[in-house]
Amino acid sequence: MAVRLPQQGAPVLKFRAFRRGAAPALAVSVLVMLVASVFSMGATTAAAAAATSAASAAPAAGSLPAVDAATLRELGRLVFHDPSLSGSGRLACSSCHDPAHAYAPAGNLAVQWGGAHLDRQGPRAVPSLRYVLNRTPRWSEEYVANLAERLLEGPEPPAGGFGWDGRFDSLREQAVFPLLSVDEMANASAADVVAKLRQAAYADRFRHAFGAQVFNDTATAFAALLAAIERFELDDPSFHPYTSRYDAYLDGKVELTAQEQRGRQLFDDTRRGNCATCHPDRRGADGSHPLFTDYQFEALGVPRNPEIRANADPAHYDLGLCGPLRTDQSSQDRFCGLFKTPTLRNVATRGALFHNGRFHDLKQALQFYVSRDTDAARWYPAADGRVEQYDDLPRQLRGNVDVTDEPLTRHPGEPPAWTDAQIDDVVAFLKTLTDADARGPGG
Ligand code: HEC
Ligand code: HEC
Repeated sequence: MAVRLPQQGAPVLKFRAFRRGAAPALAVSVLVMLVASVFSMGATTAAAAAATSAASAAPAAGSLPAVDAATLRELGRLVFHDPSLSGSGRLACSSCHDPAHAYAPAGNLAVQWGGAHLDRQGPRAVPSLRYVLNRTPRWSEEYVANLAERLLEGPEPPAGGFGWDGRFDSLREQAVFPLLSVDEMANASAADVVAKLRQAAYADRFRHAFGAQVFNDTATAFAALLAAIERFELDDPSFHPYTSRYDAYLDGKVELTAQEQRGRQLFDDTRRGNCATCHPDRRGADGSHPLFTDYQFEALGVPRNPEIRANADPAHYDLGLCGPLRTDQSSQDRFCGLFKTPTLRNVATRGALFHNGRFHDLKQALQFYVSRDTDAARWYPAADGRVEQYDDLPRQLRGNVDVTDEPLTRHPGEPPAWTDAQIDDVVAFLKTLTDADARGPGG
């Protein structure tokens, strides 16, 4: 067996879709992967290209003067909340990642508006930045230990990295993307960002921390800004308050209600809900509280979302790990349609669920999980009298969708894994994951 990620509770034996049919093709696919990593693929969008080149233009933090963590974190907070660093002048990181909403957006748009005139859609639903950032492992493909096992079982699913597709290795690299993306903060270049930073009310604090010359060199100033954002995101207590009722329950300070207890049991039951297999809910071996994600990638077959304008083009697909936003794994067909498992902390406060924001209501998202295959016509459109199941993937890639992990194993006409009342129980349990400051009045 491959080594499990830390912060998971008791090891669980998983039979994930990813393992299916991997054996004979594996030796070849390992080769393909090696080749692909040597010839890194060309970027397919202007934003990705700009972001990539700017990231390599930024010097490593090592070449910056040492600045103490508290100062750096405070600078990062100022930057994170500053809309003047955008092409529109109206969009800050915090516009999409609002601290009052667990660092996710208010409202229930599937994707947020951005761009120079705030009339362009961002690429995907905005994830909450709470809890996960300082515990996200680097993106990796884990292979089982020896060749015999490898041939029998196939590879473990890949895990880690930032973004729904894990394409960024560090928070510094990640921050370049929203700053330069034409669909988000829409700056033309790193120099453009630095010119704005230089005009900011707090620019002198950057000079004070990094030296009076910091703005003389774009690469240095840009690296300083990225380092500040990263330090804020990693260290600020507002990213990991642990004030949910579930945290208090784990610490023995409160009891769960009978309904919440039932919900938790259904969430854990490996033969039915099986949710905790991918969204772990137990303390780690080191006592750490669970984050409800294993950071692994899966294809769930979430229906296509017509709220995303790009989907009006039938040839457009967001395939997650295999592209088009991510460009280094595009030769890996078996990676197509896979997205990173999100945390479920604060999930009841989210207005858009899954990578494409297809669902806006938690109960409906759970109904989808348990009846995706028993009642496919409810979730997918029909064409020529045939239900187009897994319609957000091209036909030839629909075999990547997970049909081996409960509760995704059912067949048409079988009863769903949960009744409606049981879904209500699980929703009640998931509501215990809402942090104190994200609970509405009376919550
Ligand atoms: C227009 C909305 C928008 C703005 C503005 C924005 N983001 Fe995001 N953010 C997103 C979306 C959408 C994603 C998911 C992107 C993906 O998967 O490709 C994301 C993902 C992230 C992630 C990865 C989270 C994870 O768990 O992997 C981080 C970190 C992040 N953003 C930080 C920032 C920072 C820092 C800024 C400001 C420099 C910023 N964002 C500005 C929409 C936005
Ligand atoms: C095989 C792994 C796996 C299992 C089992 C699983 N999930 Fe997920 N979950 C994921 C992945 C991967 C995503 C993101 C998929 C996407 O966006 O395409 C996700 C997304 C979600 C979301 C959307 C969260 C958000 O912020 O967008 C919810 C809610 C959710 N899961 C709840 C559950 C529940 C409840 C169960 C048990 C019935 C469950 N999951 C079982 C892997 C899993």
